[in-house]
Amino acid sequence: MAQSINCQKVKGTIDFYGELSSKKRYVENKAREICKKYNMEEIITPTFENTEVFSRSSGDGSDIVNKEMYTFLDKSERSITLRPEGTAGVVRSFLENKLYVNPGLKKYYYCGPMFRFERPQAGRFREFSQFGVEFFGEDNYLLDASVIALGDKILKSYGLSGKYRICVNTIGDFKSRQVFQVALKEYFSKYIDSLCDDCKRRLEKNPMRILDCKVDKESEILKNAPKIKDYLTDESKEYFKNLQEALAYLGCDYYVDDNLVRGLDYYTDTVFEYIACNDDSENSINGMAICAGGKYAELVSKFGGPDISGIGFAFGVERVTNLMDKFGLFDDNVKTKVDFVLIGLDKVAKLFTIKLANEIRDLGYVCELDYKNTSFKSQFKLVDRVNAKNILIFGEEEIKNNLVTVKNNENGEQKSVKLDDFLESIKK
Ligand code: HAM
Repeated sequence: MAQSINCQKVKGTIDFYGELSSKKRYVENKAREICKKYNMEEIITPTFENTEVFSRSSGDGSDIVNKEMYTFLDKSERSITLRPEGTAGVVRSFLENKLYVNPGLKKYYYCGPMFRFERPQAGRFREFSQFGVEFFGEDNYLLDASVIALGDKILKSYGLSGKYRICVNTIGDFKSRQVFQVALKEYFSKYIDSLCDDCKRRLEKNPMRILDCKVDKESEILKNAPKIKDYLTDESKEYFKNLQEALAYLGCDYYVDDNLVRGLDYYTDTVFEYIACNDDSENSINGMAICAGGKYAELVSKFGGPDISGIGFAFGVERVTNLMDKFGLFDDNVKTKVDFVLIGLDKVAKLFTIKLANEIRDLGYVCELDYKNTSFKSQFKLVDRVNAKNILIFGEEEIKNNLVTVKNNENGEQKSVKLDDFLESIKK
C-alpha cells in the first residue's frame, strides 16, 4: 500500500484561503494605494540572497543572524539565506542596479514573505509577510518624521487608531554609540554571571544587543543599564529634539522609550516601533510591534556604495490582520459579492449561460454558475450558497425569444425582459 503523504503544514506557517486570504490582500492593497499617493515605486527583490547580504547588514551579533536565518548550501555550495527581512535585499538591489545615479529622494515599497526560525506563538510565525518602505537620499529629521507619520497613516487607514502606540528613540550617531558601547560593556561586565548565555556572547560582540534580549528583558540589571540619552553627541541630541518637534507638529501621537534599541545592527539615530495595545482578547498580541523601523545612515556605504542615508519601516501583515480581526475591523469589503448566478434549464440553455456569463464578467460583474445540474432546484442551491444578488434564468422559451428572466434575490422581484435591453441596462 502506498505510504500517505504528511499533509500537515510546517510549524509556524499559515495556509491562507477563504476570508483569510481576502483579508491579507485587503491589508496589502490598502498600504499599496497609500504609497502610490506618495509617488513611491514598488520594488520586488528575490526571496533569497547570498547569506552575507543579511549577515553583514543585520549584524552577526543580532538574533536574526545568529539564530533565526534559514541558511543552506545550494547545489553549487553557495551559502544562501531565505530573507528574514526586506531592507538588506532592497539596499543590495539599490546598489547593484545603481538606482542612486539620478539625483533626488528614492522611495520604494515592497511586500512579500520573510522567513525566521522563531518560536511560533500568537503573532509570531516562521513564514510571514512584511509590507515595507525604504527611502534613500536624505539624512534629515523632517524625512524621518514624515516616514514615521506614513506608518501611522497606513495603520490608521485600517481603523487601528488607539490600538497601537508609537514609540520612538534615538540610538545616536556613530560617535555617541562608541562611547555608549564602552559604558555598557563596563556596566554589564559586573553582572556577567547573571546574564543569559546569549548576552554573555553579546557582551563581547555588541553590548547594545543585550538591551534587546528577549530573556533578560525584564531583569533589574537591564532596567538600570546606562541609557543612550546620556551619551549622545550634541548633534544627535539636536537631531532627536528636532525630530520630536516635527512629529508633534504632524500630529503623531508618540512617546519616547529610552530603552528602545531595535534588534538589527544597521540603525543610526532614529528608531521607532508601533506597539499593539488595548488588545485583551485571548492570544493577545499586546506589547508586540506591529510595525517597526529606523534610519540607517551607514548601511549603503557599508555595502560598498556611496554615502547615502536610508530610512524605512516594515509592518507584519499577519499581525495587522490579527489586530483588525480582534477589533472587528474587517467588514463586507473582504467578502466577494456575487452579482449574478446564471441558471440554464436544459442543455442548450446551459451552454448559452456559460458564454453569456463571460460577456457579463467582461462588463465588470461577478458571475457564478453550476456546470452540472439542469434542474432549477439544484441550481438554486448555488444561489443560496454564494448569496447572489440576482439570478438570470434561461429556459427553452427565453432562448427561443431572446429573453431573460431576471430575479432580484434581495427583494424577490422577478421580471422577463429582452436580453439586449438587460445587457444595455447593466452596461450603464
Ligand atoms: P523587524 O522589527 O524585524 O524590522 O520586523 C518588522 C515587523 O515585521 C515587526 O514589527 C512585526 O510586525 C513583523 N514580524 C517580525 N517578525 C515576525 C514574525 N516572526 N512573525 C510575524 N511577524 C513578524 C525589520 O524587519 C526591518 N527590516 C524594518 C525596517 C525597514 N527598518 C528599516 N526599514
